[in-house]
Amino acid sequence: MNNFEYYVPTRIIFGRDTQKQVGAIIREYGFKKVMIHYGGGSVKKTGLLDQVTDSLKEQGIGYVLFGGAQPNPTLSLAKEGIDLCIKEQVDFILAVGGGSAIDSAKCIADGAMNPETDPWKFFMKEALPQKALPHGCILTLSASGSESSASCVITNEESGLKRGFNSPTHRPLFAICNPELTFTVNKFQTGCGTVDIMMHTLERYLGGKTRDTDLTDRLAESILISVMEAGVVADKNPEDYEARAALMWAGSLSHNDLTGLGREYMMQVHQLEHELSGMYPSVAHGAGLSALFCSWARYVCKEDPMRFAQLAVRVLKEEMNFEDPLRTALKGIDSLEKYFKSLEMPVTLRELEAGIKKDDFEAMAEKCSAGNTRILPGIKALGKAEMIEVYKMAF
Ligand code: NZQ
Ligand code: ZN
Repeated sequence: MNNFEYYVPTRIIFGRDTQKQVGAIIREYGFKKVMIHYGGGSVKKTGLLDQVTDSLKEQGIGYVLFGGAQPNPTLSLAKEGIDLCIKEQVDFILAVGGGSAIDSAKCIADGAMNPETDPWKFFMKEALPQKALPHGCILTLSASGSESSASCVITNEESGLKRGFNSPTHRPLFAICNPELTFTVNKFQTGCGTVDIMMHTLERYLGGKTRDTDLTDRLAESILISVMEAGVVADKNPEDYEARAALMWAGSLSHNDLTGLGREYMMQVHQLEHELSGMYPSVAHGAGLSALFCSWARYVCKEDPMRFAQLAVRVLKEEMNFEDPLRTALKGIDSLEKYFKSLEMPVTLRELEAGIKKDDFEAMAEKCSAGNTRILPGIKALGKAEMIEVYKMAF
């Protein structure tokens, strides 16, 4: 096991009706004026936005509303949010929504406290925010793990680049997680969420060569087993509280670093997917991952069949073939593919119905490899040529 530092300061308030506490919680911290940031309107339809504003009013806390964060949130909207925060002298940002609203809020929080820096510089790793406005969230979709992650992912529409960066400023002060708020998430987004949660753990599990991480492995395997079971139940019965609760908690645990502790890893499939949804913003993140993962796994697994076989045996209940571990590894990947299909998630790029063309692979790999200068380390290192291979296999 490698050395690690684990610091996840986000306060999680989990369970039924917890969103009603939001005013009291913000008041505890002494904030006076809140920007409530949300997406395309699901929070209005469900009545959640009214509950939030009522709770703030009860506590005498001022607020300004700022909606419009779209799936794969944009830099231009975040810049509008930064200007609004400064103009309205907001001292706290509350994101209400899924990963897109939360990431957009994180970008606004960084930008509002560093107005002299173009926020895109943070994503291009040309600058680092030393401070940010405090922010918290009410989660409405179990998927990204952004509610307690250090990451923030934004699309620059001008360049078609979707980029993320990690910063301690990105951990929300608190995350209110009521699984009931996800009852209204539709079948497709529920499937996307299940895949994304699985990927955050799978990519850590399969992403590198570190040995001797048995406890981390077993935590990861338990999370995967629970998520796969809960994903099926939530798909069939969207109002099953226990399944929604398992997905919600697993979403946070999968991406708050726990499932990769002591391991070296690079989330290659995520990197490949970000180029896809950067170029084609209609591609939902979880669907892009589902379309790429099995091809990626088949491409790299020959480099470490035992690792993939371990996953196949412990999580997918395949029988170990000691003479031919690669066969076990491949069976496990087939099982995962079957699982994604059972949720009606795409397992090829064509199924995304986004108009993706083979000719795009060169440009996507060019961006992902930073102009053929970056090689993604992993079980098998991926340079530009290998990235194109994976895209082709997934077509
Ligand atoms: O915009 P609204 O109207 O709210 O509708 C959303 C949106 O259309 C809808 N939705 C959310 N909660 C709902 C609901 N519909 C009904 N009932 C509810 N309770 O679902 C749609 C998708 O929402 P979105 O926030 O885009 O989904 P998700 O949570 O999957 O977030 C995706 C974004 O997160 C990034 C992705 O790249 C993508 O941009 N990620 C962020 C990460 C992080 N910060 O740590 C890590 C991830 O790997 C990921 O990259
Ligand atoms: Zn993800």
